[in-house]
Amino acid sequence: MRRPGVLITGASGEIGHGLISRLAQDSSTTIVTLDVRGLEAAQGRMVHREIIGSITDTSALERILAEFDIDHVYHLAAYLSTRSEFTPVTAHQVNVEGTMNLLEFAQKQAESHGRPVIFLYPSSIAAYGMPDLETKAKSGRVREDEFNTPTTMYGCNKLYCEQLGRYYARHYKQLSAEPMAGRVDFRAVRFPGLISAVTVPSGGTSDYAPEMIHAAAKGEPYACFVRPDTRIPFMAMPDAIEVLLKLAFAPRTSLTKTAYNVGAFNPSADEVRAVVAKNFPGADISYKVDAKRQGIVDSWPADVNDSAARADWGFAPQYDFDRAFSEYLIPMIRERYAK
Ligand SMILES: NC(=O)c1ccc[n+]([C@@H]2O[C@H](COP(=O)([O-])OP(=O)(O)OC[C@H]3O[C@@H](n4cnc5c(N)ncnc54)[C@H](O)[C@@H]3O)[C@@H](O)[C@H]2O)c1
Repeated sequence: MRRPGVLITGASGEIGHGLISRLAQDSSTTIVTLDVRGLEAAQGRMVHREIIGSITDTSALERILAEFDIDHVYHLAAYLSTRSEFTPVTAHQVNVEGTMNLLEFAQKQAESHGRPVIFLYPSSIAAYGMPDLETKAKSGRVREDEFNTPTTMYGCNKLYCEQLGRYYARHYKQLSAEPMAGRVDFRAVRFPGLISAVTVPSGGTSDYAPEMIHAAAKGEPYACFVRPDTRIPFMAMPDAIEVLLKLAFAPRTSLTKTAYNVGAFNPSADEVRAVVAKNFPGADISYKVDAKRQGIVDSWPADVNDSAARADWGFAPQYDFDRAFSEYLIPMIRERYAK
């Protein structure tokens, strides 16, 4: 008998860290992880099987298929936006071919147990490509079907994988008269920049906001790599974890989109600097614009229209800008570095 469980790829990353803690609150959930990096010791104790390996290696997935009856896949493994621009061919292999391997894995799992496998895919605001700053300023809260013209390898990978997922969910070979039986039930969410109090990001282009906060808390100087007026949407990490779980357990019949926008607050870089400086009075924050990274963030929308997520599956973030800082980021980050 194969053991029922959930699979998290990219589990050693920022989202994986929070997702493991959250899923482990239900001790009946068997958690299997796959990442090229090892888990932190505390997270390692919460999972049933930790596999160190790459999503590009199908033999690792075959081993999981042989041993576990997976009904939920949280496919988090990816090269993030800045890193992908430096190594676009490798990024494509990991982000696209790796996702294809996971979709095939989920399809085989679904066929073997005759039920749908729910496949959660964290897409990104990088799937958008605003043509210029004037259009970005005028467009306000963009809808899922607008400006789908990404300018980065990462954004192209995310947009294409949303489509691959839609193909597997709706058009891949049908094995049963039941609409979703033996199928991949693909559900994607386009995350904004995520800010965590417990992990530090690397390789993303929204990293300036979390980096600013963590540097100030450590008493280190920070040179922000985008202009003060740069504006994109953000979300606190606890809300991002709830998003994944809420979407995973939403009734299939209530879902009208393959990929949903979600947003929580959208401060400018200078508004983030101001709140950090207020909370950490000695903070030494300057600006040293990196033209390439600035270009990437300028191509992302200033805000997103997430009314479909709110209507279809009850998306309702708990943290707005003030609460994210006063009740989550500042107290937890202070505590983290005080230790
Ligand atoms: N953090 C954000 O702001 C944000 C925003 C939008 C979307 N996302 C998406 O959410 C997902 C998780 O993001 P995160 O912030 O936790 O990223 P992260 O970089 O912290 O974690 C990604 C993890 O994937 C692993 N990984 C990389 N290549 C791999 C491979 N070939 N095989 C197995 N594992 C591999 C890395 O070791 C890392 O632990 C990603 O798909 C990312 O694109 C994140």
